Amino acid sequence: MNLARLLLAAAVVSATPLASAQTSMDHHADPSIRLAADDSSYVVMSRRTFDGARPSTRDATMWIDHLGRDLVVAQLDRAQIGVVSRYVHENERRCGGFFAFGSRPEAEAFVARDRASDALARPQGVVYTIDNQVTVDAWLPQVAEANIRASIASLSAFRNRYYASTYGRQAAESIRDSWVALAGSRSDASVELFEDCAECSTQPSVIMTVQGAELPDEVVVVGGHLDSINWSTGNPGPNDLAPGADDDASGIATITEIIRIAMASGWQPKRTVKFMGYAAEEVGLYGSNSIATRFRADDVNVVGVLQLDMTNYKTDAPYDLQIISDNSDAALLTYFAELFDAYLAPLGLVRSPLACGYGCSDHASWTEAGYPAGMVFEAGRTRDPNNPFDLGDFPYIHSSGDTLANMDDSAIHSVKFAQFGLAFIGELAKTHAAEPDDRIFADGFEP
Ligand code: BES
Ligand code: ZN
Repeated sequence: MNLARLLLAAAVVSATPLASAQTSMDHHADPSIRLAADDSSYVVMSRRTFDGARPSTRDATMWIDHLGRDLVVAQLDRAQIGVVSRYVHENERRCGGFFAFGSRPEAEAFVARDRASDALARPQGVVYTIDNQVTVDAWLPQVAEANIRASIASLSAFRNRYYASTYGRQAAESIRDSWVALAGSRSDASVELFEDCAECSTQPSVIMTVQGAELPDEVVVVGGHLDSINWSTGNPGPNDLAPGADDDASGIATITEIIRIAMASGWQPKRTVKFMGYAAEEVGLYGSNSIATRFRADDVNVVGVLQLDMTNYKTDAPYDLQIISDNSDAALLTYFAELFDAYLAPLGLVRSPLACGYGCSDHASWTEAGYPAGMVFEAGRTRDPNNPFDLGDFPYIHSSGDTLANMDDSAIHSVKFAQFGLAFIGELAKTHAAEPDDRIFADGFEP
């Protein structure tokens, strides 16, 4: 795409660092930081973050991305990255919020790619419709809270699922094993470990494929991340206690229950369905990025991606499910709302929109690769109306307290997300009609 149009001004900006509010511990250092040889890094952040944090920098340029957002690419040393990281965490009350690269060309290519993704081929001819009630209505009452709870318990029993720990690999293999068991002996279902990820250390992603019977080249994806992390020391490592029961054992457990019900019903989709457990999300969306990039290179026609990241925490929020509004495809988000209204609203459930404010989970990798993706998120607690950065999320996120015990030892809230995921696959992948030859006639007569 037109790089010249992107570059608004290549001005050198020297801002004075803020004297205040820099003394507290750097609790949430950015996980995706990559330093150049001289220990500096090229950081992509929003203009708002840059103006608020005011890091001293040798070199900053202003950009506009394809959504019209003002961005800054700035060369920062380690201390100044800390300034931005603390600012984001304390003032915007979130983690991440910026991306760091070892060189300016890499950082600028990242900004340009975001714009380039706009021009990439969108799925042609796929209309999002709701007309498969026969399949979906039969599935929804089958979602079992106890199954989801058992899966969360088993995944959160690993000391951690950190991308660079032996537990992180074992957890991925245990998900693979449980999905293999659910695939049974079906010749149209298979499960693989996806290892082609340079930044994922020893952790594979897990992909289960159910081959489409009529439109096998059109792919529907349902995913969540299988890794976990503990940020409480500011320096995550392979021996930390990081149960990640909500973030995101709940998403993987929800997907596992979706697979169980779909397989038990003997469902054959018209389109191909791929269930994914992503590696190394917590350190920079690496697993999903490696898969989405590979799919783009292989010209795979992904027609819709549903991300399930954190589905099990709710206190007093007056809604049940939040549809994340940013880094997503507008038409797909409309479809999410329509699916919710068709299948979950009649059960007395309520939806609400929420913006993460940044690429907060794996749906962003698919969006960046030019595929229609979106995410649904737990209700959490009532958000602070005076703090636009309060996502109302689980207070124990990224700590040793992310346990089932801190979610009332129940998976009741994930049940709604399994129902939503079943509606999504039932309606987007549809149901292959049984061939006449497959029918069994009581009198033994076959037409
Ligand atoms: N599950 C979180 C994302 C999240 C947290 C969404 C709270 C909504 C509310 C995810 O696993 C995560 O922690 N993402 C990182 C960003 C990523 C690019 C490393 C984050 O939010 O810091
Ligand atoms: Zn997380």
